[in-house]
Amino acid sequence: MRAKTFGGPQGRIPRICALLERCSVFADIGCDHGYCTLYMLRAGLCDRAIISDISAKSLAKAQKLLSGYAAQGRVTAVCCDGLGGAAEADLVLIAGMGGEEIVSILKRGGIPPRFVLQPMRDSQLVRRYLIAGGCAVDVDDLFRDGGDGKFYFVMRGSNVGGTPAYSEEEYAFGRDSLKNPLFGEFIAAEIAKTEGYLKASMSPQNREQLTKRLNFLKGACHEL
Ligand SMILES: C[S@@+](CC[C@H](N)C(=O)[O-])C[C@H]1O[C@@H](n2cnc3c(N)ncnc32)[C@H](O)[C@@H]1O
Repeated sequence: MRAKTFGGPQGRIPRICALLERCSVFADIGCDHGYCTLYMLRAGLCDRAIISDISAKSLAKAQKLLSGYAAQGRVTAVCCDGLGGAAEADLVLIAGMGGEEIVSILKRGGIPPRFVLQPMRDSQLVRRYLIAGGCAVDVDDLFRDGGDGKFYFVMRGSNVGGTPAYSEEEYAFGRDSLKNPLFGEFIAAEIAKTEGYLKASMSPQNREQLTKRLNFLKGACHEL
């Protein structure tokens, strides 16, 4: 695959793909462009794939990209909400959506046997849902996209086996993130961002909330 398509080898998409393991039926929920499914098929990591998106226009992009594999009967395209078309998948990817949306999809469709989840925000909601649901989370880390320089959280696991209780910091940032050499930079960037927000005028409630977050971030920083 061309580096341009992926945003370089350290881009968000390749970093997600690096966590995808061999499976029988792979499902890419909210597939949009379909790059992750192309990676799975090209790398021989799945026998078949389900590409699914709530938007027909988004799904059409993946269908175009994967038309050769679809002609071989290895790709099924489903235009639907959440996990509706993915019942037979043994590995499910949900990437590039908010944490609230990911949790809503999991609540409605059930937690898949194996999953990789990459929330764009509110990642703590996803962690809480997975751990309360008895999942074994084997990766709960952060990475920085080598292209846009932004930090992203990613989780991988299975729907059985359980995970020992998390601390508040682990829920907020991810268990493995806390030990990641990038974590200091992430926290410093979050503190700077929050201090920047606090310079604007806002309601007392919003100020209180932001100040609380700033203190929490500073606490996590001191524990490093
Ligand atoms: C920002 S794109 C992410 C695409 C790709 N997964 C990635 O990580 O780059 C989000 C995609 O999720 C789709 N989407 C949003 N909510 C969805 C839902 N409930 N079920 C299925 N697809 C959804 C959108 O239509 C969009 O194509």
